[in-house]
Amino acid sequence: MNVLVIGSGGREHSMVKKLKESRLVDKLYAAPGNGGISRDAHCVSIKDGQIEELASFAKEAAIDWTIVGPENPLAAGIVDTFEKEQLQIFGPAQEAAVIEGSKDFAKGFMHDYGIPTAAYQTFTDAEKAKAYIRAQGAPIVIKADGLAAGKGVVVAETLEQALTAVDQMLIENEFGNAGSRIVVEEFLEGKEFSLMAFVNGSQVYPMIPARDHKRAHEGDRGPNTGGMGAYAPVPDLADAVVESAISDILKPAAAGMVAENRSFTGVLYAGLIETSEGPKVIEFNARMGDPETQVVLPLLENDLLQVIIDVKAGRDPRLTWKEAACIGTVVASAGYPGPYKKAKLLPALDGAEKEDCFVIHAGTKREGEQYASTGGRVLLAGSLQKSQKAAQEAVYSFLKRFDGNENFFYRRDIGFADKTDKV
Ligand code: AMP
Ligand code: GLY
Repeated sequence: MNVLVIGSGGREHSMVKKLKESRLVDKLYAAPGNGGISRDAHCVSIKDGQIEELASFAKEAAIDWTIVGPENPLAAGIVDTFEKEQLQIFGPAQEAAVIEGSKDFAKGFMHDYGIPTAAYQTFTDAEKAKAYIRAQGAPIVIKADGLAAGKGVVVAETLEQALTAVDQMLIENEFGNAGSRIVVEEFLEGKEFSLMAFVNGSQVYPMIPARDHKRAHEGDRGPNTGGMGAYAPVPDLADAVVESAISDILKPAAAGMVAENRSFTGVLYAGLIETSEGPKVIEFNARMGDPETQVVLPLLENDLLQVIIDVKAGRDPRLTWKEAACIGTVVASAGYPGPYKKAKLLPALDGAEKEDCFVIHAGTKREGEQYASTGGRVLLAGSLQKSQKAAQEAVYSFLKRFDGNENFFYRRDIGFADKTDKV
């Protein structure tokens, strides 16, 4: 079969690598892809928002399956367009993708279906939001309603930070339309983890849990980013917590979406926090996580395309997982998530396999035999090993080639249980 992956980040490179192993896959395409993806798939220069062009390409190239990586095309209705054209595509329809696209919808939905999450209120009026925040006190969390590339969340430690965030979103329109409505929610305390599941209607097939590190700097300090590294599975997570997340969160969410006439097909991602009252939802995403995908897919024993075919056909894909540990550390451009320079040459990346590592590209382009940076997150170095410690050692040994290079940085504490530990 011919397969098209839509997107250009690390998540999509990881999907491409996994699909490359599939015996069912004939020709593999990515749109638009990136420097690393271009070594593993045919890259087509159509952006993920050009839905009509993507559908035309899928017809011309006789694509049998299209798999969508990022949220924006899903929210824009790519699945609806493809299905109207009788093209097979894996991802939620527009009316189901709203579970990620509107935090106000997601919060109301969780409230209606008894899915545990932080208490909240929604506002469009700055003064009313501020009055509520003053009454609640800090810490408190302010979220832009719409899609803001992971940047629309402010965890305010002080009242002042919270009030400033309200002004930035509702008065200064920092996130444009996405921030013209805000959700103000209770601050939850606990360890975070991510749980993704293949979903078709009320059928839910969970993957293994993962944890990403969202803050830019070691010790989980600094600004939130798209993700600086991840690992799977999560050793400190009791089985009972994962079971509760499946039976009290993922399954009722899938069933609730069916009841709302918004039946969800694709990967449902729950960003969770393990509180003293059990796991609660921080966010739902309508797609695979980035960088969680990069450490979860290497542990999957099944053929990814077969899984997708089975899930779409209403069959149990019988997921099986390697008894191993996977970690991945992101290399980012100096300055990220603030302003950073692009087009910086990367050190040579060869030899990863010999060092039991793999390299997943996010923001790179090919520069002859080398690569240059094109984005904030440049690549992820990962390793799959018997133990998390062994995986860590391999990754950090490989990453030494970036040391002393002022154009890039990476966190040295990915996968350590103790926040003060690092290489
Ligand atoms: P999100 O983009 O919704 O995943 O939020 C980004 C980060 O903000 C999360 O990974 C959490 O660390 C933090 N966060 C979001 N909501 C809450 C909350 N209600 N309580 C505590 N931390 C939160
Ligand atoms: N890793 C968080 C996300 O994909 O949204």
